Parts: sequence; C-alpha cells; structure tokens
Amino acid sequence: MSAYADALRKAVTPGCTVFDIGAGQGIFSILACKYGAGAVVAIDPDDTIALARELAANNGCADRITFFQGLSTDFQPSVRADVIVSDIRGGLPLFEHHIPSIVDARERLLRRGGTLIPMRDTIRIALAENTKAYELHERPWLENKFDIDLTAGHRFACNVRTKAEMAPADLLSELQDLLTIDYRHVTDTDATAFATLSATRSGTAHGMNLSFQSELAEGISFSTEPGVPENVYGQNFFPFQRPVELAAGDHVDVEISARLVDGSYIWNWNSEFRRQGQSGAPLKFRQSSFLGKIYSPQSLARQSRQFIPPASEAQQIDQLCLSLVDGKRSLEAIAGELNAKFPNRFTSASDALNHVANLTARYR
Ligand SMILES: C[S@@+](CC[C@H](N)C(=O)[O-])C[C@H]1O[C@@H](n2cnc3c(N)ncnc32)[C@H](O)[C@@H]1O
Repeated sequence: MSAYADALRKAVTPGCTVFDIGAGQGIFSILACKYGAGAVVAIDPDDTIALARELAANNGCADRITFFQGLSTDFQPSVRADVIVSDIRGGLPLFEHHIPSIVDARERLLRRGGTLIPMRDTIRIALAENTKAYELHERPWLENKFDIDLTAGHRFACNVRTKAEMAPADLLSELQDLLTIDYRHVTDTDATAFATLSATRSGTAHGMNLSFQSELAEGISFSTEPGVPENVYGQNFFPFQRPVELAAGDHVDVEISARLVDGSYIWNWNSEFRRQGQSGAPLKFRQSSFLGKIYSPQSLARQSRQFIPPASEAQQIDQLCLSLVDGKRSLEAIAGELNAKFPNRFTSASDALNHVANLTARYR
C-alpha cells in the first residue's frame, strides 16, 4: 500500500483524471482524490464496488469518483486518463487477463504520455530447498503410513506450482532476474525465459522460487522475494520432478514459459542439472502445469472438435430460460414458466428462481 500511495502521490497532478482498474474497495481511488485528482473512475466487476461507493462518500470523495461495475476492457470513457493505477496480478504478473487488460488500457484508455502504475514488473528466480512443500504435496504420494500405493498420483503432484512464503535461508542460489514486463511497451501475453542458476551452498533442491519486483514509478518499488514482510502476493514455488542433491557450484539451466490459454496460464518449466563429477547424461526434467491437472479421457473427448454434444434436459431448461429473456419478463415470471414445464426438475419455485437468476447473471 505504501509504495502504491507514493507512486500515486507522485503521478497525480491537480485536477487530473485517474482510472483505478480493479478498484476493489476503491482505496487507490480515494488516495488519488486526496492527492488532488479532479475525476476518478473506479472500475471493477465485483460487487465490492458497493463498499467502494460507501467508502468514497465517507471520505468526502463522492463528487469526484464515479464507478463502473464491469471489466476495464468493456469500459468506454468519454475522456482518456492521465493516470491509470491497477493491481490485478496474482502471485506473479503473468496472471489470468492481467496483461491483455493492461495492453487494452494503455492503448484505449490512457492519454498519450500518461502514467501507468505499475510501470514495470520483473520476475525473479532462485533454486529453493522447500522441505515443507515437498512433505505436504509430494511425499504422501510416494510414501504414507497407511501403506497404500499412491505413486501413480505423484506425476500430477510434482507438476503443480504452489504459493510459498519462504525465507532467504531456504534459497540455494542467488535470486536473479528472469523476465521483465514493461507495461509501457508490452504487447505479448506469453513469455519464455532462460536462466542458469548456480548453487551457492550444498543442499536439496526441491524446486524454484519465483517472486517479482514491481517498479510502480521511477524510484518507487516493492518486492515479494523471500525475506520481505508478509504480503498478499507471497511467492510461487515450482517443484522439480524429484528432489535433487546439489553441491555449491553446481548449475541448473532452466527454461520457463507461460502461455495464456482460455483465461489462465499454462506454465512449462524444463530444467537440466550440471553437477560436478557427474557421469553420463545430465539429469533433465520437463514439467508443466498442464501435466498437473487430471483429465479423464471422457472429459478431454468432450472438448474435441468432432464431439457432438448430446441433447439433454439440463440444456433444454437453459435453452428455454434464455429464450424467455426478452427485456420484459421478470426472473420470477421466467422461473414460473420453467417450473411449469419441468416440474420434476425443480424442488420448489425458489429453486427455479435461483437457477434462472444464476444463469441470466452471466449475461449482464
Ligand atoms: C487484488 S484486487 C485489487 C484490490 C484493490 N486495488 C485494493 O487496493 O484493495 C483485484 C481486483 O481486480 C479486479 N479485476 C481484475 N481484472 C480486472 C479488469 N480487467 N477490470 C476491472 N477489474 C478487474 C478483480 O475483480 C478484483 O476485485
């Protein structure tokens, strides 16, 4: 918060226009007003925006903040912003629709020469000894006190990245920059980066720690790396296929790529270990968050181009429901017709009403 507040104080000029993308409770919007903004638009699809309205009024900003409940990509402003502030990343900046949203905001919502907060994020990487994550997520698949053979599940578990809160002492190499995303220029949602990580001490490498350093504005930054005070982001832990014993001076070459597919990232991480005194071919792992998901052949087949979705009662109910949406009928009226046509499908009138409300909310 303090870094964001400093960056806003620096960027806001008297009377300027600020868009707060992913406003949540609207704290950045209120701060922008306090620092002199003349007009602020708080943008968020979430209902939290109702609280943002109340907080804006309680802080004397109601006359300057307007609210847009929706995604920034659907926002059509009458004027462009001088400053756009956002915090819509997850534990790492390559997260869901973050990059496409910022590219759209820069191209369509920001005036030429305007300020983007954050300005630039750099993902940082280090080898990590993370016994806790290994014990929690992987070991139970390989050994357990019930003497059940669960080993078939381990190939999924070792391809799942998890949130981590690690200490500097858990790192086996120096932290180094992996990838910089400069929001003033970025256009590509996907990224591939390479690093050679060198063990600074002997230990067990369970995987890699990825954090990020954000430069919100020139000279104003914060970091999520191991050792900083606890924060909402934490770090990401990318496990290796199995723990690897390293000695100081051993190297690991890694290639990490992230590809945005249907709203979420598929992460691939390949590693090759160069250990002193090794003989034979080097140890190599090829891992992917895609391999961390369990898909049944049936559900994969349902996604194929050739699949013909079967007609079903559930589909007929939704088809009728949507066909009754005409800008005149109430939810209750639609639910009544549904309940009359499919009396065995709904347990009560309110059951039908809930179904209609949930289905139609997707099209607001
Ligand atoms: C981490 S919260 C931000 C909270 C807020 N800025 C604060 O300081 O408390 C992220 C918010 O961004 C919103 N969001 C994500 N992508 C968005 C987009 N493209 N446009 C508007 N809101 C978005 C989510 O609904 C969520 O409420």
